[in-house]
Amino acid sequence: MPLHPIADLPPVPSGDLPGNAVALLAGVLDSAMDGIITVDQEQSVVMFNRAAERIFGWSRQQVLGQPLDKLIPQRFRAGHGRHLARFGATGITSRRMGDGTVIHGLRANGEEFPLDASISQLDTPQGKLYTVILRDVTERVQAQEERSAFAAAAHAIREEEKSRVARELHDELAQSLTALKMDAIWMRDHVGEMPTSARAKLDSMLATLDHAVASTRRIAADLRPLMLDDLGLAPAIEWLASGFTQRFGVPCEAVIDEDLELQEPYATAVFRIVQESLANVAKHAQAKRARVLVEKRPDTILLSVRDDGRGFETAAPRKPQSLGLMGLRERAHLLKGEVRIESTPGQGTLIEVRIPLPALEAAA
Ligand SMILES: Nc1ncnc2c1ncn2[C@@H]1O[C@H](COP(=O)(O)OP(=O)(O)OP(=O)(O)O)[C@@H](O)[C@H]1O
Ligand SMILES: [Mg+2]
Repeated sequence: MPLHPIADLPPVPSGDLPGNAVALLAGVLDSAMDGIITVDQEQSVVMFNRAAERIFGWSRQQVLGQPLDKLIPQRFRAGHGRHLARFGATGITSRRMGDGTVIHGLRANGEEFPLDASISQLDTPQGKLYTVILRDVTERVQAQEERSAFAAAAHAIREEEKSRVARELHDELAQSLTALKMDAIWMRDHVGEMPTSARAKLDSMLATLDHAVASTRRIAADLRPLMLDDLGLAPAIEWLASGFTQRFGVPCEAVIDEDLELQEPYATAVFRIVQESLANVAKHAQAKRARVLVEKRPDTILLSVRDDGRGFETAAPRKPQSLGLMGLRERAHLLKGEVRIESTPGQGTLIEVRIPLPALEAAA
């Protein structure tokens, strides 16, 4: 018959409780879905409930009196000890562990797993007791990773599809329209005398064809600048900046590392982030100038788009139809990057994005 967990506690709590209350408390602890572990000041385990046994794969007897380190992967042990000491010194009675990051436990079979935990402390005459309530979140973390992978795949497919449509528009439709235009010009120049009305029709056909060719090229370029595939990222960003100046009459300087070579999905992400940021400057900023900076550091790509326009309240709630900045953040996060938006009404806006580069990419 295993020892009752409460009976393994230092005499403080049990000593103060009548026998049936001890049994009740033991029952509650053992029926909890979450793992509950209490350690003393020396970090020896003094209580280990049934859910903890299930989660860690150790029986209560194998853990009681043992150092808590047994349940923590080697590389986190020293850090955990320091956290516990600091928590003990704060006097806060309870808090979530891990400061929003996932922390890891170690099972009896050597497997590591992510967990969510909160910790509380209790002063007793025999010293402090720390109780950790924890939940195995392996499945949740896996689901999150799968969602991110799915989103990344969906992005890649969308880009591929846009790229294909852009190529077809550019190479097929624009070429056919150009050929038609050539034929129309030939007619105008070779048919000789024709009625004024036919001549007017032909001129109007030529104008329409000019317009159709220009729109087709513009639509293709907006879908995906083919120069991103053909010439690379730096010329594509320069093209964005000069197109911005031409279309909106706002000077836009582009400062780009000369040897900026990035593979996919990095090149497309950087391009789309700059594109959305400049679209926002055009749409909202009423700026006098804008500046794009793209810098490749040894292990990071740093890009920023700054304008001197009217700025906005970054804490204001997002309009439901506004998806640009959200998409920009999502792109950066998919590549484990960070986005910083600095904007003050009347003082312009800075969008700054840092994306870590994997070793291979950084060496490219
Ligand atoms: N450079 C900027 N200058 C001033 N305001 C800006 C700037 N960039 C963004 N904003 C403000 O932030 C809001 C959110 O931008 P976001 O790009 O998410 O949406 P949107 O541009 O309104 O719509 P969408 O990008 O979906 O077409 C904008 O509506 C605008 O008020
Ligand atoms: Mg926008």
